[in-house]
Amino acid sequence: MSDTKSKLSCVTVALHWIVGISMIMLVTVGVYMTDYEVYALYPIHKSVGMIIFVVIMARVIWRVKQGWPEAASNYKSWEHALAKIVHWILIITTVVMPISGMLMSGLGGYGLAIFGLELLAATPNPDEPGRMIPINGPIAGAAHETHEIAGKLMFAAFLLHVAGALKHHFMDKDGTLKRMLGQRID
Ligand code: HEM
Ligand code: HEM
Repeated sequence: MSDTKSKLSCVTVALHWIVGISMIMLVTVGVYMTDYEVYALYPIHKSVGMIIFVVIMARVIWRVKQGWPEAASNYKSWEHALAKIVHWILIITTVVMPISGMLMSGLGGYGLAIFGLELLAATPNPDEPGRMIPINGPIAGAAHETHEIAGKLMFAAFLLHVAGALKHHFMDKDGTLKRMLGQRID
């Protein structure tokens, strides 16, 4: 069940790809729905984000219990440091994104629901149709800002992360990517 230098556990591999692919989809949908004002996508984005939050927390607990996996090959020290920083940014932003999203929507008065299952009711403003009465406007505003900034940070870290994975695979020809695909390396 533990990660070793030659093989990552199936838990590490499964959690990496479930969370990783969900994050790529949520960032893409988040930017698209915001830029093009596609309000029909908002409840789907929020529902998937809240469901995946459970998997994200399972992953964080797994990391805390297991520590970070040992590097697959002998990287240079700057590469090692950069990979560590990027992994920390990625894992922290996966926690910050759903929490800031829930605070922005919940405290902004828009309510929280998972595919129709209401967790917190919306508080519409009777005087201004379509507008909400915030439960706590300043915190909702700060959470909104955090959601935007952490989203950009996650995306920047993700680009470095994928560049690193491809460099290891195609230039260094080591087992870093293969190991994250569940394969045993020597
Ligand atoms: C096409 C997309 C991706 C590829 C090819 C990829 C590849 C990899 C590889 C090869 C490793 C192992 C690095 C090592 O052994 O030092 C790794 C680890 C990691 N990746 Fe990704 N990754 C992708 C997407 C993501 C995304 C979207 C996130 C989070 C938002 C993420 C978060 C992490 C973290 C936190 C680790 C450290 C090990 C762990 O906690 O499981 N990855 N990734
Ligand atoms: C779990 C990971 C999540 C990721 C990676 C993510 C990512 C994003 C991104 C990148 C944006 C676009 C931000 C911008 O450019 O302004 C966005 C917008 C948004 N997200 Fe998320 N999100 C996540 C979870 C959530 C959750 C759980 C909620 C609420 C329950 C939520 C609610 C929203 C809302 C309401 C917007 C639109 C904000 C606006 O209209 O300005 N998100 N999300």
